Amino acid sequence: MRTLLLFVCALPALADTGNAVCARCHAAIARQYAQTGMAQSSGRVGQSPFKENLTDPRVSPAFLLQLGETSRQLEYFIGSGHIGRSYLFRRAGQLFQAPLSYFSAPKEWNTSPGFQHKPYPEFTRAVEPACLQCHTSPSRPFADSGVTCERCHGPGERHAARPAKSNIVNPAKLAPEQRDSVCAQCHLTGVARFARANRERGAYQPGDKLSDSIAIFVIEDAALSATSHMEKLAASRCQLATGDKLWCGTCHTAHADSTPEYYKSKCQGCHQPGSCTANAGNDCVGCHMPKRPTHSLEHLAFTDHSIPRRPSIGAAAANHGKIKEFWTGQANERDTAMAHSITNLDDAYQLLQESVKINPKDLPLQLQLAQQHERYAQDGKAQTLYTEILQSDPANTTALINLGTLRIKAGKAKEAMALWLRALAKNPALIGARLNLAVAQYQSGDPASAKASLKAVLEFEPAHPAALRMLAQLP
Ligand code: HEC
Ligand code: HEC
Ligand code: HEC
Ligand code: HEC
Ligand code: HEC
Ligand code: HEC
Ligand code: HEC
Repeated sequence: MRTLLLFVCALPALADTGNAVCARCHAAIARQYAQTGMAQSSGRVGQSPFKENLTDPRVSPAFLLQLGETSRQLEYFIGSGHIGRSYLFRRAGQLFQAPLSYFSAPKEWNTSPGFQHKPYPEFTRAVEPACLQCHTSPSRPFADSGVTCERCHGPGERHAARPAKSNIVNPAKLAPEQRDSVCAQCHLTGVARFARANRERGAYQPGDKLSDSIAIFVIEDAALSATSHMEKLAASRCQLATGDKLWCGTCHTAHADSTPEYYKSKCQGCHQPGSCTANAGNDCVGCHMPKRPTHSLEHLAFTDHSIPRRPSIGAAAANHGKIKEFWTGQANERDTAMAHSITNLDDAYQLLQESVKINPKDLPLQLQLAQQHERYAQDGKAQTLYTEILQSDPANTTALINLGTLRIKAGKAKEAMALWLRALAKNPALIGARLNLAVAQYQSGDPASAKASLKAVLEFEPAHPAALRMLAQLP
């Protein structure tokens, strides 16, 4: 006990305290919470209550993935396994997503979501920071399994040393937007989600408004096309009619899975017995919150949180090109321009050009505009802007790679190669840049370097068809 307390005091400010520390005083909650999908949503392979079927010859009982000639040691999993799991492996100090995932219902390994379109198993998809942001504790990924206490309760170091209600966040006691923000961190995806000007993506702490650090845009007709739980709920008659009174915590106890009985009691907290015009019995949720089949790992609300009168689970409607900021329906020029660019709306180019004039040093905005310049074949403007971006952020890989491509189109092979080498020094797994480099090296009369580059591609992607083909053609 005593040593643990000292350990807590010695932790640097804002570090994750870890679930074990909270469990010392909140043992019952910690035990209960540990059973949930959220608590088990990531971890080291082999170390979780959920067990995969390990009879597939491609994945050994020690989680060695073997596809053709390529083997990779799977190190971490993402996803509790209620529906399925994705896996991560390490290469050159970086974490990559495995091309195979586990699907729990059929108990089988299959191509990971988003990997289906490659003609070869891909081994260079770097894990997105957002992935870890939602499924782990980003300050200490995988140190605790899954979503930790502090993701909903805020930093607990001071509270653990001197427990009081005043130094820990209780989400249920927050004002509505701050309260909803706690769950929206991870349960509101939208069609565009990005950091606001001069804010870090991970700056949010429970107690804040998420919208202060992150802009989230959703499709305007959410009733038809929303995918995430918070959007769907916001489109429900129940929420529209009661406003802030209804929130995630109305039906979900944060530390445990709820039962159908519990959900029904919550419906009846607002709906009198007999208010169901179908007069249809007790399983309110069975009829009014129906489930989609769950044979994919896609991030969709499986249970229909729009609480419809009559169940209708059709295909999501098409986006009619109207999006809005989730919380207020309004956004400043900069964020509107960003969102329109990310979702590829036609007016994005115009909006970005105006917005960059007002925010000339805004890097994410500049990057969007530079890419739009390219899209509209304004190569000169794109090059000028990428060069400017590299002055403030010399290791920006997007700018290095794209400027390299523009330079080689302009006949400046030497400059292009130098830019790609800079990008590769930052991230050696950028396969597209490495292949372009190999071609440029070959064309500028340096087959030995070209060969070395192609071999470096094969280090990461041993079955890469283009690299293999080009290597075979070289003397
Ligand atoms: C040394 C014991 C101890 C530790 C460690 C501890 N707590 Fe507490 N916690 C308490 C006590 C005691 C209270 C009740 C305080 C009161 O009523 O004034 C409390 C209250 C709370 C509350 C309720 C606040 C409210 O306003 O209703 C939350 C939430 C909470 N703790 C979360 C945590 C989390 C998360 C951790 C780990 C980071 C943690 N606690 C670690 C003892 C502890
Ligand atoms: C840090 C990210 C994060 C936060 C914050 C978060 N969730 Fe989750 N939640 C997840 C993830 C990831 C899953 C999927 C877990 C899995 O792998 O099955 C999940 C699953 C759930 C589930 C399904 C049951 C379960 O436990 O798996 C419910 C219900 C849920 N969350 C409710 C909430 C509510 C209510 C809040 C706010 C009080 C909240 N979540 C906050 C990430 C988060
Ligand atoms: C914005 C937060 C967020 C991001 C980013 C995110 N997830 Fe999820 N993930 C969730 C939530 C919440 C669930 C629970 C179901 C749902 O809401 O769709 C989930 C469910 C899953 C599941 C199914 C777990 C189960 O068995 O129930 C897997 C697997 C998964 N995510 C993998 C990933 C991977 C891999 C990435 C990165 C490429 C990723 N997720 C990015 C929030 C997120
Ligand atoms: C997904 C978000 C989430 C996570 C993760 C979470 N909590 Fe909570 N916790 C809540 C919410 C929401 C409430 C308020 C419940 C209410 O009063 O309706 C709460 C309430 C509490 C309370 C005070 C009320 C009570 O039930 O005694 C304590 C103590 C607490 N949590 C401790 C913990 C500990 C310890 C952990 C980690 C083992 C944890 N929580 C993980 C969301 C979360
Ligand atoms: C916080 C209060 C509240 C809760 C909790 C709640 N509802 Fe509602 N619900 C309402 C209100 C208010 C309306 C709107 C009534 C009206 O428009 O006359 C509504 C409307 C509905 C409708 C009509 C939808 C339509 O499109 O016409 C259905 C069905 C419904 N609720 C079912 C449920 C079920 C099932 C649950 C539990 C899973 C539930 N509600 C939980 C307040 C609530
Ligand atoms: C009116 C009640 C109600 C409200 C409010 C509600 N949920 Fe749910 N939720 C349910 C029911 C019912 C299920 C299905 C549970 C089951 O099958 O065990 C569910 C399931 C889930 C799941 C599991 C994945 C899925 O889609 O089946 C997640 C995640 C979830 N809810 C998140 C949220 C979040 C986040 C909020 C707030 C935006 C929220 N819920 C608000 C009733 C509700
Ligand atoms: C067997 C399926 C079924 C079950 C179970 C069921 N409902 Fe319904 N409910 C319906 C249908 C269908 C309608 C629409 C009837 C209509 O259009 O007039 C409806 C309508 C409603 C409405 C809208 C009433 C209005 O004034 O317009 C509410 C509220 C509602 N149900 C609540 C509930 C609650 C609460 C429960 C659980 C106690 C429940 N329902 C159980 C099928 C069901």
